[in-house]
Amino acid sequence: MMEFVNLGDATLAAQYVAIEMFRTIQKQSEPKLGLATGGTMEPVYKSLVQLIEHNPIDLSALKTFNLDEYYGLDKDHPQSYLYFMKHHLFNHIDITENQYYFPDNNAVNLEADNQAYDQLVKSPDGVHLQILGIGTNGHIGFNEPGTPFDSNTRLVQLTDETIQANARFFNHVEEVPTRAVTMGIKTIMSAERIILLAVGKKKQPIIHELYHMEIPDTDVPASVLLTHPDVLIVTDNEAAPQY
Ligand code: F6R
Repeated sequence: MMEFVNLGDATLAAQYVAIEMFRTIQKQSEPKLGLATGGTMEPVYKSLVQLIEHNPIDLSALKTFNLDEYYGLDKDHPQSYLYFMKHHLFNHIDITENQYYFPDNNAVNLEADNQAYDQLVKSPDGVHLQILGIGTNGHIGFNEPGTPFDSNTRLVQLTDETIQANARFFNHVEEVPTRAVTMGIKTIMSAERIILLAVGKKKQPIIHELYHMEIPDTDVPASVLLTHPDVLIVTDNEAAPQY
């Protein structure tokens, strides 16, 4: 079931998502979280760091799985998603290197590593809570329009729209990697619960379209969420659909 909630303010929306993550860590004995990167997530992690600072919580059994990573980018590159996660979350909380996982982005045996990643994410059960952002073209992770819903973790080509959208984090658009390794749609759908956060007016058209969809369509990858039992789409006023 896909539900929508407009929390009005973008900061509040990010705080809400952080609280849900925090509560999941509190409630589960071996919490598994699926994480996203990107501009939308920065205030979410800021808020999560604050919650962890201000409340007693045991992070020793936490495991996190990131959705994606650019292909071929050095792990120390400031635009790598590992760097992003360290900068916004991992460096500020009590977590060790063997607790966070990323799809392999430089592998010799890429296919075997991708299968292993799917296994890690899904077993014994899927992640307790998967956090998602959304692309203006409806992508989730880097599953671009047209991706089959039964796709697993794999190497993908980014669309021009996504490359242009991500160019803001680089000096030049030519520096944006054109490929990435992403969790597949099937992998994402194995999560027990999913929260998708969309803020800002650029996301309004795709959120509006999604809100009015009744049948999933691979042209809008996020529409697969219509078939998941527990999905919440959280927005601010700017990204909210016209009801
Ligand atoms: C990032 C990811 C992407 C982003 C999406 C929105 O890990 O999976 O799907 O969530 O591109 O990015 P922002 O938040 O920068 O608009």
